[in-house]
Amino acid sequence: MKNKQNQFINPETEKEIDELLSKMTVKEKIGQLHQLGTSPVGGFEISKGEMKKLLEAGRLTQEDYDSWISNEQWDENEELIKAGEIGSFLGRNKDPNFYNHLQRVAVEESRLGIPLIFGNDVIHGHKTIFPIPLAESCTFEDELFELSAEIAAKEAAAEGIHWTFAPMLDIARDARWGRVAESAGEDTYLATRYATAKVKGFQGENVSDTDRIVACAKHFVAYGAAEGGRDYNSVDMSLQKLWNVYLPPFKAACEAGAGTFMSAFNDLNGVPCTANAYLLRTVLREKFGFNGFVVSDAFSIDECVAHGVATDRKVAAELCLNAGVNMDMVVGCYRDHIEELLSEGKISEDTLNEAVREVLRIKYAKGLFEHPYTDVSQGENIWLCDEHRRAALEIAEKSIVLLKNDDKILPLKSDMKIAVVGELADDALEMLGTWVLAGESKDTVSLVDALKSLNIDFVYEPCCGVDKPFDVKAFEAAISGADVVLAAVGELKDMSGEASSLCNIDLHGEQKKMIEALHNSTKPFVTLLFNGRPLAIKDVADISPAVVECWHLGTEAGNAICNVLFGKYNPSGRLTTTFPNYSGECPVYYNHLNTGRPTSEVKHSTKYMDAPLKPLFPFGYGLSYTEYEYDSLSAEIKGDRIEVSVEVKNIGDTSGVETVQFYVQDVVASMARPVRELKEYKKVALESGETATVKAEIPLDNIGYYNERLEYVVEPGEFEIFVGHDSEAQLCTSVFVQG
Ligand code: BGC
Repeated sequence: MKNKQNQFINPETEKEIDELLSKMTVKEKIGQLHQLGTSPVGGFEISKGEMKKLLEAGRLTQEDYDSWISNEQWDENEELIKAGEIGSFLGRNKDPNFYNHLQRVAVEESRLGIPLIFGNDVIHGHKTIFPIPLAESCTFEDELFELSAEIAAKEAAAEGIHWTFAPMLDIARDARWGRVAESAGEDTYLATRYATAKVKGFQGENVSDTDRIVACAKHFVAYGAAEGGRDYNSVDMSLQKLWNVYLPPFKAACEAGAGTFMSAFNDLNGVPCTANAYLLRTVLREKFGFNGFVVSDAFSIDECVAHGVATDRKVAAELCLNAGVNMDMVVGCYRDHIEELLSEGKISEDTLNEAVREVLRIKYAKGLFEHPYTDVSQGENIWLCDEHRRAALEIAEKSIVLLKNDDKILPLKSDMKIAVVGELADDALEMLGTWVLAGESKDTVSLVDALKSLNIDFVYEPCCGVDKPFDVKAFEAAISGADVVLAAVGELKDMSGEASSLCNIDLHGEQKKMIEALHNSTKPFVTLLFNGRPLAIKDVADISPAVVECWHLGTEAGNAICNVLFGKYNPSGRLTTTFPNYSGECPVYYNHLNTGRPTSEVKHSTKYMDAPLKPLFPFGYGLSYTEYEYDSLSAEIKGDRIEVSVEVKNIGDTSGVETVQFYVQDVVASMARPVRELKEYKKVALESGETATVKAEIPLDNIGYYNERLEYVVEPGEFEIFVGHDSEAQLCTSVFVQG
């Protein structure tokens, strides 16, 4: 694939940057590397109420609080913008006029008129909220990954935002880690396609278009491999694993033209990623050919002191700038120390100039010099418009994964009497999921809202929640007259996402009690899961006749769930993350390496004595209201690719969409290789009784790996190809790669 990083190098622009650089003072240069977030939690749209809460929780000093509350700080900031000492802002302001106001100060009142770049976390939608990324990845549909990013870009750009801190491309194999919610799951291949689609969606063909925003591939790198799933913790892994599992999505984002990267909080093999020249210079710039700029994660330059690799903030600034971090996110280490470091020769002028050049390059690429202001009339027409809501509904429907459906209890008939229990059923705010800054509950449809709009005969009883004890009496009264019960259980939105690691990923509170009561009641019931991570719910799944994974689906959550429950949409989502039986199995993922003692009933094989041999639900798994049969698999090598063909038949009595998954195993290699790895997926729509021949081409270049010398090799020998419904597919054939 052509490396789209080349688009950023334009001789004319580089000349303009040279000229600018020749005019800039050291202070102005440092300004371009300084991103201001005017509150200690990063954003500049933190309300007074929220600031008060932070103060009360001891997360803010009285002094910071007072200075925030007084408007003087803004006057001070404007003075700094005028002086060219701020290059970027982090956070959100509801009023696009405010961005324009600050921009006007930068462009018209600063000496060189360099525009600001406004960054914000536009993670899964802006005003129209799409399913959390983990849910969206279950659609296995690249066009939708792109579409939701494109819409998010439009809505954010109309508010004045130029740059998003997305996509997050961390491979997430440990469900205890709260940020699995923000990821595309555990698989490298899927995350790689997701990366390409997201960058395209945010940036479009031309990132300078006013309805596009600059993407930021984060968190570079291996942040998802934090020890024990504890956020911010250490990562120790072989470089070979890094290259095979964790780097490919970032490489893809780079090649797709991502304008920026964010360095991760964690250390990699002892070196904090924010001070890691191997990652930021050797890998990112030299090997991937990156031409944009790197922003640190929030406070992470300063955190080099806590990591114990810098004596103080000044040394931290020296390490990070030299390692290749261009912009300091909100902590001011560059602002405070670069001038001194330069005069002491600890940072060279070339290093500083290069860092500034790369920031300016992206400002030029974004078109900020040409059109620095936002057209404030745009927003009202596009925010939450019908087209965006329709897309949110489609993506939400396709993200839902039907995990169990005994006796075909689903789809429900619309004339059934329904009881809905559990407070998550009527909590629109919780449907939004983690990292939502502009989405609001008033615009969001809960399950109960959707049922009301459908004219369904139902009663709703909150009776139990994550923090709400199980009210047996209310529960019994609610279910007594029902033909079927819908039980809404799971996690609150803040139980996943940043700083939300859990060691127990079972259902919290008394929610399990409610499911047990349903089990004992003899009423047919459906367990609806609302969560941001895989849950270890073996006990609950065992006793539930039907289980539907509803994630945190965003603005259209309730409508999407109803469409699936009543059969208007036949569920097609597939898990992109393995569900363990019990929390203690984490990390668990399908593409683990071969071991000398493969998991089996045999005593001396790799497994837990007190857990089933298989996970609760494997990667790629998901049911439908119909079934599919696979047959006639064939594969052969033609030129530089493997051509695979398989027949898929819809053997049920309703139409549906199957996600055909192609896995490859390198049977004997110089090193232990994964038991299988996803290498292609195709979605196919089939009427009842219809058969389709599904063909795939897998480039030979995609079935190799980085060996212990970090050389990418495709070794001769047998490769098994498994095709089917999920990662446990057994239909198999082989090809032989010649030496
Ligand atoms: C997170 C990033 C985010 C940044 C800015 C950090 O705490 O790790 O993912 O982009 O804050 O909000």
